[in-house]
Amino acid sequence: MYMLEVADLWKRYGAVQALSGVSLTLEGGEIRALLGPNGAGKSTTVKIVMGLVKPDRGSVRIMGEDALSPKGYRLRRHVGYMPELPQLPRWARVGEVLEKYAGLYGIPEAEIPSAVSRALETVGLSDLRGRAVATLSKGQVQRLTLAQAIMHEPDILVLDEPLLGLDPEGMDLVRRIIRDEARRGAAVLMNTHLLKEAEDLSDNVTLLYRGRVLFSGSVDELKQHVSVGEVLIVEVEGEAEAAIEVLRDIPFVESVERVTRTRLRVKLLPGEDRSSEVSRALVAAGLGIRELKRLEPSLEEAFLKLVRGGEQWAG
Ligand SMILES: Nc1ncnc2c1ncn2[C@@H]1O[C@H](COP(=O)(O)OP(=O)(O)OP(=O)(O)O)[C@@H](O)[C@H]1O
Ligand SMILES: [Mg+2]
Repeated sequence: MYMLEVADLWKRYGAVQALSGVSLTLEGGEIRALLGPNGAGKSTTVKIVMGLVKPDRGSVRIMGEDALSPKGYRLRRHVGYMPELPQLPRWARVGEVLEKYAGLYGIPEAEIPSAVSRALETVGLSDLRGRAVATLSKGQVQRLTLAQAIMHEPDILVLDEPLLGLDPEGMDLVRRIIRDEARRGAAVLMNTHLLKEAEDLSDNVTLLYRGRVLFSGSVDELKQHVSVGEVLIVEVEGEAEAAIEVLRDIPFVESVERVTRTRLRVKLLPGEDRSSEVSRALVAAGLGIRELKRLEPSLEEAFLKLVRGGEQWAG
């Protein structure tokens, strides 16, 4: 059984078709990034999961049960949610906010103070327990919002851009918390438009573009799926002219670019690793190679390629 199963979600806001058949699943312990550019439909998807937006069509199952049925709201107790825009009462104190949520989550009265302390400690806000929300910095609000989402040890964690607005130390902390939550067994769905973030944190990726799923699978599969061509950096001995000629004659070489007098950037067409064939060709032509290294295909490149492909039919 999936912790979360979203199937064929459709949503239109007036003239905007925000979602056109979005599906995804989430298992316990899994971190899945919901990745896509601004306006792709990431927040709309998670708002539907949280019961904040009603879809035109489709289903949401939380721990096997229908979350869109009249009694579905009860299932949201199993979910911790960090919204895109924090919505905390500005006049309340940090400790009070968490006490309030603890009550809503059904944490027994006697355990609330310790649950609040634990959550504040986890996000590094213990010293601010008595401070009013209105006086917090943006990053501190972000941390408090995360504390609110994890304090009841939810089975499912839904995070809408959790690293937004954090300093490097804050990002590190939040990444660590997300990994710890998954290790505890929570299923984590994390929205992001940053490829690096998805690559660093997630097991799986669902790539959204204009309300459609362009890809679903692991980060490695995403790279393979679009078969981005390799890029080699070749440092030759002496002048590069002769090497450029040899390289341009190789059929699977897409382009050769001169970086410095002796350094070349060689782009290969998609295929297996053929860097050894490149060096053989240079050696056979009597040219010396000082260095030859492969650059990893970047997720950025994979993403742009998919999005360009998607543009043709996502309309
Ligand atoms: N309440 C609304 N009324 C009208 N249009 C909306 C509403 N909410 C979202 N949209 C539109 O639906 C589309 C998807 O928006 P959504 O917020 O889901 O995108 P997103 O992927 O979360 O983007 P971002 O990375 O900017 O947060 C956008 O075109 C947006 O303008
Ligand atoms: Mg969003």
